[in-house]
Amino acid sequence: MTNRVVLGLQWGDEGKGKIVDLLSRDADIIARCQGGANAGHTVKINSQQFILHLIPSGILHPGKICLIGNGVVLDLFQLFHEMRELQEKGIDTTGRLFVSGRAHLVMPYHKVVEAAQESARGKEALNTSKRGIGPAYHDKVARYGIQFAEIFDDNLLREKIRASLQEKQSVLAALPEDQRPTVDMTFDAVRAKRDEARLLLCDVSKYLDDAVAQNKRILFEGAQGTLLDVDFGTYPFVTSSNTTIGGVLTGLGIGPKHLDRITGVVKAYQTRVGNGPFPTELHDQLGKDIREWGHEYGATTGRPRRTGWIDLVLLKYAVRLNGVDDIALMKMDVMDKLKEIKVCVGYKLDGQKLDTPPQLGSEFARVEPIYQTLPGWKKPVHEAKKYGDLCPNAKAYLKFIEDFVGAKISILSTGAERDETIVLG
Ligand code: IMP
Repeated sequence: MTNRVVLGLQWGDEGKGKIVDLLSRDADIIARCQGGANAGHTVKINSQQFILHLIPSGILHPGKICLIGNGVVLDLFQLFHEMRELQEKGIDTTGRLFVSGRAHLVMPYHKVVEAAQESARGKEALNTSKRGIGPAYHDKVARYGIQFAEIFDDNLLREKIRASLQEKQSVLAALPEDQRPTVDMTFDAVRAKRDEARLLLCDVSKYLDDAVAQNKRILFEGAQGTLLDVDFGTYPFVTSSNTTIGGVLTGLGIGPKHLDRITGVVKAYQTRVGNGPFPTELHDQLGKDIREWGHEYGATTGRPRRTGWIDLVLLKYAVRLNGVDDIALMKMDVMDKLKEIKVCVGYKLDGQKLDTPPQLGSEFARVEPIYQTLPGWKKPVHEAKKYGDLCPNAKAYLKFIEDFVGAKISILSTGAERDETIVLG
């Protein structure tokens, strides 16, 4: 029995949705551990497109159980919206989707607070996904949060909303009166969802422990990517959760010995949405071309993604941080047309050569990439159905990445469809 973890190794948007969809076939349970509706997992099945923000993409497989762990910040309204959309496309979530009672809620006022904070930062804005993620995690850590299991007690819910709004008074007071969230308005909105919500309530940690005892196979699904981790990412241009391996354990309530294999998902190039340093960013026409070829527009916000060459210094760092066993390399087809492909193999900073990112964000913002240039393959990789069908330059590119970062490539994605995938091991 293998319990596999899928984590993003870049700044998110690596294609985790497709990999989770693929690996879900061999799993009984798919469990999401952190983040919230800031994530956007796109899966294409027979030309039908699904974009999921909160619900694990494993839900697209009939009969699979999907769990949302305590580490996720839960926007109840978004959750029900996604459930309805799936229902309309013929996918029933009844009895297959459960949420930890310990998960903290993203409340409507979190979005209002986030908008005010972003505007107060002015030019220093983080350019977040505006889903209320930061303020919801803030409330959790500051102990003003509301847990999912608490919404079923009227008095407790009302009192917690009151206390949380009170804490935000200075921010909310600056808003025009008709835009200020009130206790009654918030309470009524959450209460209206309560009967539906009750069916989802679950002790996810206990559920997983029982599943392990019954030899069920679990797929652990991370959201965002390593470089957005609140501790190890490009702080402060990060999200507010641990997107690295520790987030799986604390976000679900499971011990490390139950994680058998850690698969990191990586794009054949680099993208980033929102602000923050990006050493290998391409500001020229090629950067724009890669954006178009790769359809690099945010699944959550529609924002154009910044694009650049793959950064192997950061990838090696991500492999180390997460203890990655193997890599799923995505969107290799996007590089099909290129005569030459650059890969970043080191940094220069103040005349010194670095082989790992500096700890200080202000230093990381100043590093200059050192590139190695590899020959392109100039052939549509989606024509290859197995590793042996790839041309020598494509194989050499894969080997270069493997040797540099010290992890094997186990899955190769050569297009958006389910069948445009080569499994190597
Ligand atoms: P937040 O998570 O909405 O607070 O946004 C913080 C930063 O993380 C912003 O730069 C977002 O664009 C980025 N971010 C959050 N979630 C994702 C994701 O799923 N993919 C890519 N970037 C993300």
